[in-house]
Amino acid sequence: MPKLVKTATEFELSPTLGMNEEVKRQRGAGKQVMHMGFGEGPFPVPERLKKALGENVHRKEYLPTVGMEQLRTVVADYYKKKIGLDTDKFDVIVAPGSKLILYALQMAVEGDLLMPVPSWVSYAPQAKMLNTKVIKVPTTLDDKGFHIDPTQLRALIKSSRKEGLNPSKIILNYPSNPTGLTIPENELKEIARVCVEEDILIISDEIYGFVSFDNKYRSIAHYAPTHTAVTSGLSKHLSLGGWRVGVGFIPKAVTGLQQLLSNISSETWSCVPAPIQQAVVAAYEGHADVEQHIQQCSDIHSLMNKYIAKGLRDLGVKAPEPQGAFYNYPDFDAHRADLAKFGVKTSKELSEMLLKNYALATLPGTAFGAAPDVLTLRLSGCDYDGAAALKAYQSGEKLDEAFINKNAPRVKASIETFGQFLKDAKQAKAA
Ligand SMILES: Cc1ncc(COP(=O)(O)O)c(C=O)c1O
Repeated sequence: MPKLVKTATEFELSPTLGMNEEVKRQRGAGKQVMHMGFGEGPFPVPERLKKALGENVHRKEYLPTVGMEQLRTVVADYYKKKIGLDTDKFDVIVAPGSKLILYALQMAVEGDLLMPVPSWVSYAPQAKMLNTKVIKVPTTLDDKGFHIDPTQLRALIKSSRKEGLNPSKIILNYPSNPTGLTIPENELKEIARVCVEEDILIISDEIYGFVSFDNKYRSIAHYAPTHTAVTSGLSKHLSLGGWRVGVGFIPKAVTGLQQLLSNISSETWSCVPAPIQQAVVAAYEGHADVEQHIQQCSDIHSLMNKYIAKGLRDLGVKAPEPQGAFYNYPDFDAHRADLAKFGVKTSKELSEMLLKNYALATLPGTAFGAAPDVLTLRLSGCDYDGAAALKAYQSGEKLDEAFINKNAPRVKASIETFGQFLKDAKQAKAA
């Protein structure tokens, strides 16, 4: 029997995808499950993109490994116009999902990875696949966002070097999965300065950039164009995860990086499917209908996730006001004593009990790098019929609690379930 590589035992199915499959399995078996375990925008494909895809089903040729020129051009123009990105300093690559661009970037840049904690589930496993060491960067979370102290970051880089490590790249994600928080603009500036001075490549994961509840797109690329590679795509603001379209802005200043990514692409995924590339040109041409769709979806994400945060705060759970993306990252520390009596001492136990006894799917903080006894969960606020919710909003329904009661009953039920769960935990204590 062929032997698996040594690291194989260290890999599990990505927790987010794994949870999604578990919920689908349980629902398939007839169980009613509330799903806060997977971040997938629930909204339908915009008509313009549907039509464009239909018109291009006959396309079957291989396309350039970095994406067809027409698409790369509209992507660059879009970012130039919408966020003022100086795309002259970057070149665009298109790949089947930003996940692969993130992986290719990690592969391309020698050295160890600075990774804020908490952060998205796949950065660390990707590092592990590449035999890269992960240096955890502490963060703090509050209503103003999530914060990386620049002085602490510099000290960490220096002390890691002293210990013989080679910190050479950092991945930042804002608005962030799992926190739903973003890094304030002035702090991005400070972090950029440290990274430029310490010669660290910033991999700026801006996949939620257009799901920003104050409608401001932030990018550290403005402050460190020589040291930033930006990744994004259509998976989040257009709910098109299954279309597998990621885009990257690769800095010209890092000699050889663009060529290396093109080479990696040519030896692995070859290109994004031709009909999809042709269809998504329309997503980047700035059409009013597509832009309105993005804005309306973002408004609904804002409503849902702020509702979840408020519901949790009302239950005495620490839950900062979300600023973007589709997530909350509440901390149940205030209920630690009750939960311990209830048999819950880790985030994994918390998540498992909610799924097993309360039919509520969540993800534990450990999946995002938190220590086991930190009682955090990542909650995704996407479990509703997106088409119906969008239609209701377009027909003039106000985005308020009544909207949630009517259009997102499972989101409402999830909060009620947390209430019941915490009540049971409290009673377990009294018993
Ligand atoms: C923070 C973050 N980065 C990257 C991705 C990858 O997105 P995709 O590969 O669909 O572009 C995701 C998807 O869940 C994400 O949440």
